[in-house]
Amino acid sequence: MATKEELLASISQLKDPEFGLSLADLQFVRDMMIKDNNRVAATVLLSKEDESYKAGLQHAIVESFKAAGAEEVHLRFRPLTEYDRNEAAKKVQAQMEPYSEETNVPASVNVLDAQSGVKFIAIASGKGGVGKSTVTVNLAVALARLGKKVGLVDADIYGFSVPDMMGIEERPQMVDNRILPVERFGVKVISMGFFVEENTPVIWRGPMLGKMLRNFFNEVEWGELDYLLLDLPPGTGDVALDVHQMIPQSKEIIVTTPHATAAFVAARAGAMAIHTDHEILGVVENMSYYSCGQCGNKEYIFGRGGGAKLAEELHTGLLAQIPLGVPENHVAEPDYSPSVYKAEMPTGQIYLELAQEVMNRLG
Ligand SMILES: Nc1ncnc2c1ncn2[C@@H]1O[C@H](COP(=O)(O)OP(=O)(O)O)[C@@H](O)[C@H]1O
Ligand SMILES: [Mg+2]
Repeated sequence: MATKEELLASISQLKDPEFGLSLADLQFVRDMMIKDNNRVAATVLLSKEDESYKAGLQHAIVESFKAAGAEEVHLRFRPLTEYDRNEAAKKVQAQMEPYSEETNVPASVNVLDAQSGVKFIAIASGKGGVGKSTVTVNLAVALARLGKKVGLVDADIYGFSVPDMMGIEERPQMVDNRILPVERFGVKVISMGFFVEENTPVIWRGPMLGKMLRNFFNEVEWGELDYLLLDLPPGTGDVALDVHQMIPQSKEIIVTTPHATAAFVAARAGAMAIHTDHEILGVVENMSYYSCGQCGNKEYIFGRGGGAKLAEELHTGLLAQIPLGVPENHVAEPDYSPSVYKAEMPTGQIYLELAQEVMNRLG
C-alpha cells in the first residue's frame, strides 16, 4: 500500500479547471487517512459546482488510488470557501513567478482533456435516419485521409451502427486494463456495439449510459489524437445532454435532409447545442439531390433548401451537400465497408472538401 505522499503523487496529473494547478499542489485533496493499510478516505475541494465535473473527478481519483494499492476509497466533496479560494489564488501567483505560459490554463479545461489538444466534434441530428452516422463515419475517414489522427466514438448507445457501417468485425483488445480502440481506414473506433453480444438491445438507462460514455473517454487508450468525433444519438435525449455537459468544449455539426420538416426537427438539436454553449461548426445537408448517371442533372427528390434554411436559423454555415447514393463497394473487397465512400468517387471528394472545411474552421 502506498503512503499518503505516493497517493498524492498518483493524482499529480489532475488539474483544477479554475486554478490550473494540480489538485495536490493546491491542497484540494486533504484530510487523508489510511486505515487497515488499504482503506483510504479524503476530502476533495471543488472549485465548481457541477455534477459531471464531480463525477469525473471522483472516478479519476478512485482509479488512481486503487492503482496505488487502495482497496476501498471514500471521498467527501465540499465546495471551496472564500478562504480556500484566496489560498489557492496565492499558490497560483507563486507559481507564476517567474511567469510561465503553462500555468495560465483556461478555465474551460476539464478532467477529460487536460492532457491533450484533441478537438472534439459532436455530430447531431433532430431525428434518426437522416444519415448522421454515415456523415460521421465518412468525415472521420476523410480527416484521416488528409493525414489527421482521428478517433470516433459511437455514442449512439441505443442505436450503435458504426462497426457494421465500417465493416469492422474485430473487437477491441485489452492492454493493462485499458481498452484499445479498433483501427479502420486510419480511424480509431470505439462503439457500444463492441461490448454487447450478437446485437442484443441495450436496456441500460440514465446514469449507466453516462457512465458507459465516460468510460469511453477515460478507459480507452486513444493515444495522440487531432480530432475525436462523436456520433450522438438522434434528438435531444439524456445521452446528448450528457455529452454536452461532459465535453463543454466540443464543437457541433448538425445533419439534416433537405426536407422542410427534417430541417425543422434538426433545429431543436441546434437549439440544444446553443443552449449548452456548444459552438455549431455548421450544417451538413445529406441526401440533397440525386445526380442522374446519364445526363448529370441534379434532381431534388426530397425538396430543396432545408439545409441552408437551418444554417441561417442557427446563424451558421452550410458545410456540405451530400448527394443520394450508396458507396460502390463490394463484399469481396478485402476492406469491404458498406458505408464508406472511396476517396476517388464524387461523394468521397465531397467528404474530403467537408473535412478540409472543418479543419479550416477549427484552425
Ligand atoms: N447520401 C445517402 N444516400 C443514400 N443512402 C444514404 C445516404 N446517407 C445515408 N444513407 C442511408 O440511410 C440510412 C440511414 O443512415 P444513417 O447514417 O444510419 O442515419 P442516422 O445515423 O441519422 O440514423 C442508412 O441505411 C444509410 O446507408
Ligand atoms: Mg445512426
